Amino acid sequence: MVNKSGSMTRLRLIKHAPGAPGLRILGLGPNLLPSKGLLKLQKLFDEHAFWAQKRNLKNLRKLLSGSTVVVSLWRGKRMIGFGRATSDQIYRAVLWDIVVADDVQGQGLGRKVVEALLSMKAIKKVERVYLMTTHGTEFYKQIGFSNKEDQKLLIKNNALLKSI
Ligand SMILES: CC(C)(COP(=O)(O)OP(=O)(O)OC[C@H]1O[C@@H](n2cnc3c(N)ncnc32)[C@H](O)[C@@H]1OP(=O)(O)O)[C@@H](O)C(=O)NCCC(=O)NCCS
Repeated sequence: MVNKSGSMTRLRLIKHAPGAPGLRILGLGPNLLPSKGLLKLQKLFDEHAFWAQKRNLKNLRKLLSGSTVVVSLWRGKRMIGFGRATSDQIYRAVLWDIVVADDVQGQGLGRKVVEALLSMKAIKKVERVYLMTTHGTEFYKQIGFSNKEDQKLLIKNNALLKSI
């Protein structure tokens, strides 16, 4: 992508440390610079992830803190992609909240986010990686996941306390 000055805006993929402390506590983005990262994650979710809208900053910090692997994708100062996973580091991991901004979808960025997550130490040797998706089945099939017809997804919903 070309910016206003005519130069290319660099794409940066960040593989965060477990719990993403830099992003979570200081809002750090590319080059570990303060980037209002948490606000940008909130905006990305609000605008492009229908299941993750209206998450407050306090709960986003908790979400990051409880994530084993976290990836964010930036173009210049804009966060354009995100993904995270929880993992027991040996048997099971689950991908969560994979999102790429609408206007940059279809350029291989979602694949980059998922492949980066799967390449991280805490997940790469895990026996089985799960995910749940509403509209992304074909995308995940393209990158190596398959339907598990003999298993069912069961859910128990709890009321979310907005300001825990
Ligand atoms: C799903 C999502 C992350 C995919 O990101 P993306 O950057 O558009 O995907 P990519 O460009 O990396 O696509 C990777 C591959 O999947 C394919 N693909 C992507 N979306 C697809 C779709 N809806 N149907 C069929 N194939 C699809 C691409 O053609 C590409 O295949 P190729 O490598 O053979 O060319 C993105 O569309 C998104 O954020 N959607 C909204 C949120 C969402 O639904 N997330 C899913 C988790 S619930």
